[in-house]
Amino acid sequence: MELLAVVCLCLLTWSGTTFAAGNGPDVIKMVVKEGDDAILPCSLSTRENIVQELFDWKRDGQKEVFMYDDGDQYNNGRTGQDEQFRGRVSHFPDQLQFGDASIVIRNTKVTDSGNYTCDFPRLQPIRRGLIELVVGASPKPSIITLNQTKDWALLQCEVQGASPKPQLQWQDSGGNMVPAKDPQVTDRGGSYDIILQTTVTKTDHYRCVATQEEINHQVHAETFVHLNGAAPEPSVTILEQTNDGVLLQCVVKGASPKPQLQWQDSGGNMVPAKDPQVTDRGGSYDIILQTTVTKTDHYRCVATQEEINHQVYAETLVNVTAPETPTGWIVGPVLGAFLVVVGAVVLLVLVKKGRIKLISEKGRLE
Ligand SMILES: *[C@@H]1O[C@H](CO)[C@@H](O)[C@H](O)[C@H]1NC(C)=O
Ligand SMILES: *[C@@H]1O[C@H](CO)[C@@H](O)[C@H](O)[C@H]1NC(C)=O
Ligand SMILES: *[C@@H]1O[C@H](CO)[C@@H](O)[C@H](O)[C@H]1NC(C)=O
Repeated sequence: MELLAVVCLCLLTWSGTTFAAGNGPDVIKMVVKEGDDAILPCSLSTRENIVQELFDWKRDGQKEVFMYDDGDQYNNGRTGQDEQFRGRVSHFPDQLQFGDASIVIRNTKVTDSGNYTCDFPRLQPIRRGLIELVVGASPKPSIITLNQTKDWALLQCEVQGASPKPQLQWQDSGGNMVPAKDPQVTDRGGSYDIILQTTVTKTDHYRCVATQEEINHQVHAETFVHLNGAAPEPSVTILEQTNDGVLLQCVVKGASPKPQLQWQDSGGNMVPAKDPQVTDRGGSYDIILQTTVTKTDHYRCVATQEEINHQVYAETLVNVTAPETPTGWIVGPVLGAFLVVVGAVVLLVLVKKGRIKLISEKGRLE
């Protein structure tokens, strides 16, 4: 998001007699980025020639910013200009004839922020233009890890030279606020250094967000924290053995970031599984993945956490034993074998009864 530079080209409307009645002139609000030039507008609505007039720009009612008096001004020898503005302010000479007393402040600094007035002391009634200038500086926060163990990490976010004063906040990858210590704020005359520390206990992406509401600006820095023990090994159990196969279950608890689970056979081929059951415990995941296998093999449950380039697995041996009751596919062969035996017995009986003749003509046995 860019800083919004408001350039108001409209003419100031002067209140004339109503000014005395208490209605002050409208305030024009401007926001510029530090280092940019700021044009402060001020024109008479009558557009009368002011080449031979006097106009005076002040900041916060006291600092002399710019004065023009019938050709005399600070850039051509006139004295009295505030040190802060020396050599950085000029007017638009060829616009004076149209009643335009606008000025430009070059290379703005955060300390230029303030309320500027443009006065024409010799004109009746008294006329005044009012401009609120905010010079914003929005440096990107920087993040360092101060200390880390296997269970937690102490993160520090720092912003230097920001103006207006930003709000700092730590957020997790879900955009949720992460509780932090009290910020340490140093005010260097309207420009702020801020430090915000937090201790995190989960593997995640963390963001430090600096928000400057007055100028509608937000900037952030991000870091990834990987804490050990966040990728526990899967555990594998054989739930039940039925005629359809063996039901296997793989469970991973408290994993972060969220892993992908997969069943594989001993050849490394993926084994189709049911939909995983996932429980999110605030960024830490419990996952259950079941599959039914029908062949004797070694089966592996593999948990992969791509973000942290981490993979673990657990393995089990499945012994698919022969079922007790014959199922469809073996009824045929068993029946066939039975008929062959019966046939052989009948043949044997016939041979013993001397009907050998029939054997040579077994094609016509019946
Ligand atoms: C301008 O004046 C108003 C009223 O006094 C004040 O609240 C505001 O902070 C001033 N603006 C700047 C940029 O100093
Ligand atoms: C980090 O924490 C450990 C244990 O609390 C402590 O002994 C060590 O001094 C800390 N280191 C830093 C740089 O803070
Ligand atoms: C499967 O089980 C049977 C009976 O318990 C056993 O004899 C056989 O060795 C087992 N096979 C494997 C591969 O373990």
